[in-house]
Amino acid sequence: MKIIFIGPPGSGKGTQAKRLASRFAIPHISTGDMLREAIAEGTELGRQAAPIMASGALVSDDLMIGIINDRLAKADAQGGFILDGFPRTLVQAEKLDGIVGNGSDPLRVLQLLVPDDAIVRRISLRRTCAQCGAIYHLENDPPKTDSVCDRCGAAVIARPDDNEEAVRKRLEAFHRQTLPVATYYKTKRILREVDGIGPVDEVFERIEQSLA
Ligand code: AP5
Repeated sequence: MKIIFIGPPGSGKGTQAKRLASRFAIPHISTGDMLREAIAEGTELGRQAAPIMASGALVSDDLMIGIINDRLAKADAQGGFILDGFPRTLVQAEKLDGIVGNGSDPLRVLQLLVPDDAIVRRISLRRTCAQCGAIYHLENDPPKTDSVCDRCGAAVIARPDDNEEAVRKRLEAFHRQTLPVATYYKTKRILREVDGIGPVDEVFERIEQSLA
């Protein structure tokens, strides 16, 4: 299975991709998580990406394509993968075709449909584990102990790019730069649209059905 998740910020890509990765035993490759790790480790990539991410803009295509090229070459990605957050521009989508286009498994692209007003509510109540990346929601799925990750015990925090101004810019970037990617895959007839509204379990069922 080679699966791509497309969706606006806060649409549930990370939440659903983690479940799907466990269901199919394939790696969940989140470019956002990879960049946040680089920032936490203080690497050159992290230093370059941090101010761009905090503002809600997209990191350059060259940097992102390099990261994905290296990641998809690793052994664990040879049997399939779930891409969450890549490709986000037409340039990235075309480069990805060159990286994975010749394999026997076709790409399957899932677009999560969630309207902007629901996005703002989800993101304002999202909390993320600073250590393992587990995703919580203060109303629907809070950690058992306030601000402590159920899985690893590290601190559960709000992401620095989850403020109102950055979210507005991320939504703008999604509409302007990433929706054309959905159209690109629609034209290739490999896009499946999934309603992302409703309980997490129900959305997951829809995703499984769309992959059947
Ligand atoms: P990234 O980390 O990819 O952020 P994003 O696309 O904005 O998506 P999010 O992680 O915010 O949301 P999500 O869809 O995963 O939702 P989640 O499951 O957490 O990218 C961050 C930044 O990195 C970018 O802005 C950019 O700067 C840079 N970047 C990354 N990739 C790049 C690329 N390829 N090119 C250039 N730049 C790149 O869910 C959100 C909340 O909703 C959670 O609290 C969750 O519990 C809750 N929730 C989930 N599902 C439901 C549901 N069904 N009902 C109610 N609540 C729900």
